[in-house]
Amino acid sequence: MGSFDTIRYVDDPKFAVEGKRVLVRVDFNVPMDNNGMITSDVRIREALSTIKLLQKRKAKVVLMSHLGRPTGVGQEPRFSLKTVAVRLAELLKSDVQMMSDCVGDYIKSRSIDLKSGEVMMLENVRFHVRETKHPDDFGKDLARNGDFFVNDAFGSCHRAHGSVTGVAKYLPHAAGLLIRKELEAFGPLLNNPPRPYVAILGGAKVSDKLGVIDAMLDRVNTLMIGGAMAYTFLKTADRPVGKSLVEDDQLKFAHNMFVKAAEEHISLMLPDDHVVAANMDDESAKVVDKIPDGMAAFDIGPKTITKYVKAISTAKAVMLAGPLGVFERERFANGTRAICQALADAHKRGALVVVGGGDSAAAVEKFGFVKNVTHISTGGGASLELLEGKELPGLVALAAPDPK
Ligand code: 3PG
Repeated sequence: MGSFDTIRYVDDPKFAVEGKRVLVRVDFNVPMDNNGMITSDVRIREALSTIKLLQKRKAKVVLMSHLGRPTGVGQEPRFSLKTVAVRLAELLKSDVQMMSDCVGDYIKSRSIDLKSGEVMMLENVRFHVRETKHPDDFGKDLARNGDFFVNDAFGSCHRAHGSVTGVAKYLPHAAGLLIRKELEAFGPLLNNPPRPYVAILGGAKVSDKLGVIDAMLDRVNTLMIGGAMAYTFLKTADRPVGKSLVEDDQLKFAHNMFVKAAEEHISLMLPDDHVVAANMDDESAKVVDKIPDGMAAFDIGPKTITKYVKAISTAKAVMLAGPLGVFERERFANGTRAICQALADAHKRGALVVVGGGDSAAAVEKFGFVKNVTHISTGGGASLELLEGKELPGLVALAAPDPK
């Protein structure tokens, strides 16, 4: 994870922001439905501590974020942060001034006109292609809206973008309280995890998690595989997979992981039984040990649940990254629900339980276990890259000295 000992935090008394403009990068990339309604405001809530602290310290708070992946060639209303600003104002119980852009003389003058404790939200930084393509150059323009920079967008720290890394080159900077909370949760898992350490990796694709699977085999005692990616592993082990999702180009990788697990004496667990159906919409789902031809598996079966829950029951550290099945549909939700319950039980008896990735966070929320785990990361890609042991550019930028 690299050394981030030199990162200063926003609550450092020497970070003297009273009466100054503090440009804060938050990750307000929240999920929205087809009507543009926010379906989870967790990322907005998690940013409140830093914003409130800055208000209390009488700073002028200028917020910036991306939302979605617009083309970058101008404004696209469905990616506007206006709805987010409204929700933020409700949660903060104070006014949030919504800007029509994030750079330019007018925006800069509005930031100067802010009064201490007031909050302003800039429009989506990704409406400008320079945010992603010319981060340093764009960071310089963004920096005109602040005297200080705070990055609290943990979920975006794996992006070397203008509002994440670029702006840190031009302003004295600090990390926000959410970043501290995330690093405090992941730190023990990366450096000296309590043992036994069990990781559960799920989700659709092996190819999305190559680095994490490999890195986890260096750290954990037990690695459980679930979700669709289990079937690439099962095919490698010559088990019948029917028409389950298999990435044939990852069979070699899966084979190498079996070899690595055996060499390092890591228990690599795969499902023994499955909930299968002709397709995801087929309501006649059934439990089988061997996946028949013409059927695909969409969840782990009861024997697998028992095996996984037993391994979790003695763990002192547990990491969940990815759901075990298509939990959004009730007939394929049992595996993920049972694992979430096992996580809650582990947490109750004092184990460190961390959940990473948007889908697993959504599952924990859906099954009502938000308060029963140690930490739910606000980062998807960022948390996976951290678990891989990669250096996140946003954190590297924060650890660098202030500009002269
Ligand atoms: C996320 O949701 O993982 C972050 O907000 C980053 O979004 P991105 O993958 O579009 O950069």
